[in-house]
Order: sequence, then C-alpha cells, then structure tokens
Amino acid sequence: MNLIHRPRRLRRTPAMRRLVRETRVSKDSLILPFFIREGSGVKEPIDSLAGLFRYSPDTIHAAVGDAMADGVRSFLLFGLPDHKDEVGSSAWDDNGPVQDALRRLRKACPEAVFITDVCMCEYTSHGHCGVLAGGDVDNDPTLDLLARTALSHARAGADIVAPSDMMDGRVGAIRNALDGDGFQSTAIMSYAVKYASSFYGPFREAAGSAPGIGDRQGYQMDPHNRREAGREAALDLDEGADMLIVKPAMAYMDVIADVAAMSDRPVAAYSVSGEYAMICAAGAQGLVDEYGVMCETALGAFRAGADLLITYFARELARAIDKGDLG
Ligand code: PBG
Repeated sequence: MNLIHRPRRLRRTPAMRRLVRETRVSKDSLILPFFIREGSGVKEPIDSLAGLFRYSPDTIHAAVGDAMADGVRSFLLFGLPDHKDEVGSSAWDDNGPVQDALRRLRKACPEAVFITDVCMCEYTSHGHCGVLAGGDVDNDPTLDLLARTALSHARAGADIVAPSDMMDGRVGAIRNALDGDGFQSTAIMSYAVKYASSFYGPFREAAGSAPGIGDRQGYQMDPHNRREAGREAALDLDEGADMLIVKPAMAYMDVIADVAAMSDRPVAAYSVSGEYAMICAAGAQGLVDEYGVMCETALGAFRAGADLLITYFARELARAIDKGDLG
C-alpha cells in the first residue's frame, strides 16, 4: 500500500468547511455608527453614504430598534450640532444632540450598548479636533474640553466613551474626570491608532467636519508607520483605555494584527466611511459583488485579529451571519 501523505484541504462538504473555519464572526462583535443632528422629526439621507441617514434625538430610537431586530446591539453615536464655535462648546452641552438622544435611548433600548465619539471636530467652527493656538491644535487646553465632553456623555447615559481626537494624554484626562464624578464603570474605547487617512472623506461630508484650514497630519498618524502603532496603543493602555480602536481597517490589516497581538484589552477595527462608500459605489456600478466584498472585508479585519468591528454595514453583516454566509 502506498502511504504517501499529500497535502489536503478539509473541504468535502459545506458542514465540514464550517467545522474547520479558523475565524468566527458573531453579531455581538458588530458596532453600528449613527449621526445625530439637532431638531425633531429628522431622517435625512446622507449623500456620501448610500442608504444611511442623519437622525434627530426623537427619531433615532426607531433606527436603533430596527438594527436591534437584525441582531446589532452596540451603537457609536456622533453628534452634529447647529452651533459651532472656536472651542466647540456644543460638545459638552448637556442638551446637545448626543446627550439628548442618549437620555431617550437609555429608556427606549435599555439593553443596547451606547458608545459616544468624543472629539471636537464636529463642534468647532474650524473643523479641527481641538482648540487652536496660532493655526495648530493646542494639546493640553484641549484635554480639559474633551474630559468635560466625556463627562457630559456619561451623565446622559453613555456606557462607553470613545475619544477620537488623538491628543496626547486624553485617555488619562478622561479617566480622571469620569472617576472624579462617580463614573468609574463608564468604559473608555480609545481611538489609539488613527491614521491621517483619505478614507474619512464621506464621513466629513456627513458630519460637516472637514478642517477649514490645514489638515490633521499634525496629530493623526502617518500611514508609513507600523511600529508607531504599538507605541500609541501601549500609551493608551497605560493611561487606562479599556478597549482600543485601529482606524481605518482595510488598508491597515498589518496594524490590526500587531495591535491585537500586543493588547491585553479588546481591539476594534473601524471600517470607515470611505471603505463603505467604495464598496457601495463599486457594487452599484456592477463592478464587484457588493455583498461578497462586504463580507470578505469584514472577515479580513476579524481574521487579522480584531475582536470588534465598527462598520456602517453592521445590519447587513448581521443578516449575512444569520444566513450562514459569514460566521
Ligand atoms: C473624529 C472622527 C472621524 C471619524 C471618526 N471619528 C473623522 C476624522 O477623523 O476626520 C471618521 C470615521 C469614518 O470615516 O467613518 N470625530
């Protein structure tokens, strides 16, 4: 008898293929972003993000309810204030759109997880992520404003605050402010590794947050750098981050893998607006199979090591998991 072992793949039947999958994807790992603007009765389509809407605090619960019916349970809220000024004072307004929405959502959907984006860029008239001094963002004075904003979100009912500004020392400043006010159990999901990326374009259109002058390269990371991601992640873990975000996802799979390997806390990949918009646009033109590319891209982030995925496709992915196309 000839006992030569030849390489083989365990792929005889669909059930066997599922049995030997190395990567498992769960609906529990998905986080869906929402944009909340001031006003009432608002559900307005976002031109740059096909199929997505801006909501007002009184309409968002229906959208959250629909997503929960698909099995998505965690939501990342972005606020779009009417009033913008030099320091972004609407960000910590207890009656701002995010705070107002949170108070209502807390009652309407008590079992959901609400995460809030903490940043100044949607709130400042110049569109930068902090206060300016001579054209540059002034790091330390910004920390105080971020801490006030995070506290205001916690008071309104946020489970997790997610600082996305990339200022040095913000995680520690926010942790201190939360602990000092009795919010020890409010978690911090830090955008620890955030690259200065062209993939944020559609978001900036959705949020009206493109910087009026200059760019964000002074405080966001250079896409040429990989090791620097480990350093950024370590600093935020030291300061008390409970979870880390790597952003964007698609062009940064190496970075997701590195950060997942070094972090003792959960790591989220953020598949950003440009990734969503590209997949929708190419799908709409019939150039690629949108559904397949959506599933494969999400899978890539999990396979690289992400524990969580922030994605505008969260509902569609949850349905794909139900159908067994992913999971
Ligand atoms: C900052 C923030 C941005 C995104 C998430 N948080 C914009 C930016 O850094 O310019 C982008 C997310 C996306 O593109 O989907 N508040």
